[in-house]
Amino acid sequence: MTSDKTSKRRILTGDTPTGRLHLGHYVGSLENRVRLQDEYDCYFLLANMHAFTTRADKAAEIRQDTIEIVKDWLAVGIDPERSTIVLQTEVPAIAELTWYFAMLVPFNRIMRNPTLKTEIESKGLGDKYSFGFPMYAVGQCADILAFRPDLVPVGVDQVAHIEVCREIARRFNQTYCKVDTQADDSEHEKLGGVFPIPEALVGRVGRLVGTDGKEKMSKSLNNAIFLSDTPKQVKKKINAIYPGQSRDPDQPGDPDINPVFDYADIFIKDEALVADLKDRYRRGDNLGDGHVKAPVIEAVNELLEPMRARRAEFEKPGGDDAVIDIIRARHQARQRRRRADARDGQGVDGVELWHAE
Ligand code: TRP
Repeated sequence: MTSDKTSKRRILTGDTPTGRLHLGHYVGSLENRVRLQDEYDCYFLLANMHAFTTRADKAAEIRQDTIEIVKDWLAVGIDPERSTIVLQTEVPAIAELTWYFAMLVPFNRIMRNPTLKTEIESKGLGDKYSFGFPMYAVGQCADILAFRPDLVPVGVDQVAHIEVCREIARRFNQTYCKVDTQADDSEHEKLGGVFPIPEALVGRVGRLVGTDGKEKMSKSLNNAIFLSDTPKQVKKKINAIYPGQSRDPDQPGDPDINPVFDYADIFIKDEALVADLKDRYRRGDNLGDGHVKAPVIEAVNELLEPMRARRAEFEKPGGDDAVIDIIRARHQARQRRRRADARDGQGVDGVELWHAE
């Protein structure tokens, strides 16, 4: 056993740096990460290599987006003192494992992955996507398994990827560690398997509707409220949501077809207030759409306010350098620990598969 495997169960999850994070990321996964930081040994991965699958010609942009994602993480309350931030390109073992894992899964199995298919469609990749694009699905398994986590907090769209990861982990353990094909997932490590069979942990809200009131919130669909939006931007975006029906304040309405009520359910803490709003909306009790939106705007801004304060630290001149130091510090600390382990004669078992400069 490696000396730094604590008794805590482990989490690994990550984001591809494609731009700023939004409320959908928050309720789908970030919220869980922040909450579980003390209970779990947490690893948060910056999947910067994955950004190259669609933007190989934009290395400088990817570098900047990576820094911006860390700012989002720090803003939501990911604490680098308690959790480990990992930069994918600093861990060559991930690329190495990807190669071996690619042999343990049929090509067609990867191409059938609905998340990948949706992405090809929504990004308009047609049949022009790079060879590396579908390979990221195998790469993601390596991201995860290199850290041997128990849990992977993700949005619902990522569950298909985690399923492939579980299949590959089983296959690896069966092929190279003599784990019986009938073994229960929970028994794999006990039976000598190198990898646990990790589980996805989906956030409180699997799919948050965007401000278009239709599609899933997504940067590329231009329907996102970003964690870094100003109070004014939040107000403007929520006020622009089409309430799903055209009605006067004194006409009955259906809260179920009004996306603003989705936001109310998710972001307003006072459940009695939400119940009352829905009731009045149903009855047409002099409740205009603006009256529904106002408390939603307030609740979202209340959620984002502490994030804005934390982010401000890193928006000052020198902020990017401070972020880079945080990323570096983790890798260097890790390396120091490894050297100390080696000196103590404990060694590091070959399975941890971590290299950093
Ligand atoms: N593919 C994930 C996304 O688009 C990001 C990601 C990369 C990830 N590697 C990971 C998520 C490992 C969880 C675990 O959101």
